[in-house]
Amino acid sequence: MNIHKLLITGAQGQLGQALQAQFVDHEVVAWDIQELDIGQLEHVRKALNHIRPDMVLNAAAFTQVDQAETNHEAAYRGNALGPRNLALATNEIGIPLVHFSTDYVFDGQQSRPYHEFDRPNPLSVYGQSKLAGEEEVQKGNPRHFIVRTSWLYQLGGKNFPQTILRLANQKQVRVVNDQFGSPTFAPHLAQAVSRLLESDAFGTYHLAGSGGTSWYDFTKALYQARGIQTAVMPIPTSEYPLPAPRPGYAVLTSLQDPSITLPPWEEGVRDFVAQWKGPNL
Ligand SMILES: NC(=O)c1ccc[n+]([C@@H]2O[C@H](COP(=O)([O-])OP(=O)(O)OC[C@H]3O[C@@H](n4cnc5c(N)ncnc54)[C@H](OP(=O)(O)O)[C@@H]3O)[C@@H](O)[C@H]2O)c1
Repeated sequence: MNIHKLLITGAQGQLGQALQAQFVDHEVVAWDIQELDIGQLEHVRKALNHIRPDMVLNAAAFTQVDQAETNHEAAYRGNALGPRNLALATNEIGIPLVHFSTDYVFDGQQSRPYHEFDRPNPLSVYGQSKLAGEEEVQKGNPRHFIVRTSWLYQLGGKNFPQTILRLANQKQVRVVNDQFGSPTFAPHLAQAVSRLLESDAFGTYHLAGSGGTSWYDFTKALYQARGIQTAVMPIPTSEYPLPAPRPGYAVLTSLQDPSITLPPWEEGVRDFVAQWKGPNL
């Protein structure tokens, strides 16, 4: 597709930052909630008419998975109403919308990786609100890409690798080893998105770090890549209860164009650790 000017919403988040770095050769307007609250339709319309982008990349979302259980309204505002507003407003001016979703739309009951045609069945309010957002995008603008990703992390973001590396100063860390997913380094996702936009094969895509692992093995890989000796103890989910239920097995795979597959998740670990400036223990 011929794209010169992009609007990135949720630009201060992990993915927003990675997309800005990826599309540095484009004319990019990068706005977060202070400049544009996607929950307000008239603001979205006004912003699009003012900016006149060729495409919108929506990296904005309410991502506090556990808080969503008790704050339904905030979750649906950010994850369903916001995407609905963007879909309507982009459709009105005839431009495509790229929207991001999550492995949490699945219930995790499968024993093989989830592809794009598997049936969602979210367990949590966050997952339900994200699925509602996907449906609104599908209804509101036929020229859409919905990109489902998983276990996203980026230098400086609020994410598992940063937390677990900081915890490495403890004698031992206890990490869940019965939940499986596809760790995704945000710059790898942003690269794959730019390849996706070379075509106009609109639809839903799974783009996540290739392969799957548990939080426990993810931790071991992060520590090993950083030369950290801290003992890692595997524990079941039942020993680390959280308000929002997580899918037990939500490894993502794609049946779509294999040329846009992300590198193996282990490469994400290597690239992230190479950038990490935290304490080396
Ligand atoms: N993080 C993961 O592990 C993960 C996994 C799978 C899929 N995803 C999906 O990937 C996408 C990006 O996630 P991320 O980790 O980059 O999220 P993030 O770091 O939490 O960034 C989201 C950004 O959107 C902003 N925002 C929230 N509500 C908004 C609104 N109404 N209008 C405009 N901006 C708003 C947030 O601002 P505040 O910080 O001020 O709220 C934040 O800057 C989301 O669609 C998410 O559901 C994430």
